[in-house]
Amino acid sequence: MSHVVTAIRAASKSEFYADLHRQLAAVLHGERDWVCNLAQTSALLMQALPDLNCAGFYLLKGGELVLGPFQGKVACVRIALGRGVCGTAAARRETVVVPDVHEFPGHIACDSASNSEIVVPLVKNGELLGVLDLDSPKPARFDADDARGLERAVAILLAASDVG
Ligand code: SME
Repeated sequence: MSHVVTAIRAASKSEFYADLHRQLAAVLHGERDWVCNLAQTSALLMQALPDLNCAGFYLLKGGELVLGPFQGKVACVRIALGRGVCGTAAARRETVVVPDVHEFPGHIACDSASNSEIVVPLVKNGELLGVLDLDSPKPARFDADDARGLERAVAILLAASDVG
């Protein structure tokens, strides 16, 4: 593989995400397979973002979210729309940032190490495809800058892939 992913050293979050977006585009360049690109994206996010215990995807299949490529411990496999943080973000089609998962009604605990979470929906041409789910052991790990940065990462992934 020609792209060597190194730890991103950035002075600010916007610099961090600008670098992450460049690395993601480079890693996905020349490959349009959906599952392959989901797997590579989850690996890059897990390597690049500090303080994560889980990074990956749930894909919409038969009206529910089914576990897709991810990095982390063994996880829950199926989540109904509207359930947990993932199902809520999918049903609303908007990013959900949860500073304390223990305070989120209906949170689904897959890894007991998780204390905060962010879920970004995957929507292409108006169609909901699934969600990106990141978990952290650090309370309040994710903020509005992470939401913007990860939404842009998802847009890069969707544009680089033939989905389905
Ligand atoms: N916590 C998520 C479930 C997925 S695991 O974190 C990997 C939720 O509440 O939807």
